Amino acid sequence: MGGKARRSPQPTKPLVLALPKGRILEQSVEIFGRAGYDLSPVLSKSRKLVRDCGPLQVWILRSSDVPTYVHHGAADLGVVGSDVLREQSFELYEPLDLGIGKCQMIVAERASAPVDERAQAHLRIVSKYPRTTRRYLESRGLTAEIIKLSGSVELGPITGLSDRIVDITETGETLRQNGLEIVDTVMDISTRLVVNQASLKLRAREIAPLLERLGEQVV
Ligand code: PRP
Repeated sequence: MGGKARRSPQPTKPLVLALPKGRILEQSVEIFGRAGYDLSPVLSKSRKLVRDCGPLQVWILRSSDVPTYVHHGAADLGVVGSDVLREQSFELYEPLDLGIGKCQMIVAERASAPVDERAQAHLRIVSKYPRTTRRYLESRGLTAEIIKLSGSVELGPITGLSDRIVDITETGETLRQNGLEIVDTVMDISTRLVVNQASLKLRAREIAPLLERLGEQVV
C-alpha cells in the first residue's frame, strides 16, 4: 500500500535553566513563580541535580559554574550574581537584573589592625575574586599580593595570612563577628539572568515571552 509514513511529532526539548544552589535559589524560584513558571520541584529535599519543571528543566549548579554552562550552550539560561559574572570573562547576554541577591563587594581589614595601603611595602589581600581584586587595585593605583581562597575569606586577616580581604557582604554580620571593618566598596552586586547567544536566536519563541514575563516582575 502506498501513502506517506506518518511521523510522530518530535517532543519539544525543554529550555534548560541553570540555577545556583545557595542563598538565591529560593528567591529565584519565587520570582520565576510570579512570572508563571512553577519551579517548586527545585525546592524539594532531594539530591537530584536535574529537575523537570514543565517547559523548563532546571540544573542546580555551583554559582561559579553557571556562566560556563550558559557560555557553552549546555544551558540556555542562567541565574547568577554580577560578582561571578565580572570575575569571569565570558560574553553572555545579560538582559535582566532580577533585583535579588543585592549585596556589596567590599575591602575590609581587622578593626584592631588598620593598614596604611600606600605606606605598607607588601600588602596581602585574600579573595574569592582575584581578577576583580586586581582590577580594583589597578584602578586605585595600588599594588598588593592577591591570594585566592575558596571560602571563609574573613579568616585571612585573623590568622595572619593577609592584611585585608576583598569579599561580598550582605548583612555585615560575618564581618562584625570576625572583628573586620569595611575600608572601601568595590562594587554593588545583584543577581542577573543570562542567556546563551545562540539560544536567544534559535529558541526566541520561548525565550522572548519568558524575558517579558520575568521583566514585568522586576521593574
Ligand atoms: C558570603 C561572603 C561572606 C558572607 C557575607 O559567604 O563570602 O563570608 O557571605 O554575608 P553577611 O554579610 O550577610 O554576613 P558564603 O555564605 O557564600 O560562604 P563562603 O564563605 O563559604 O563563600
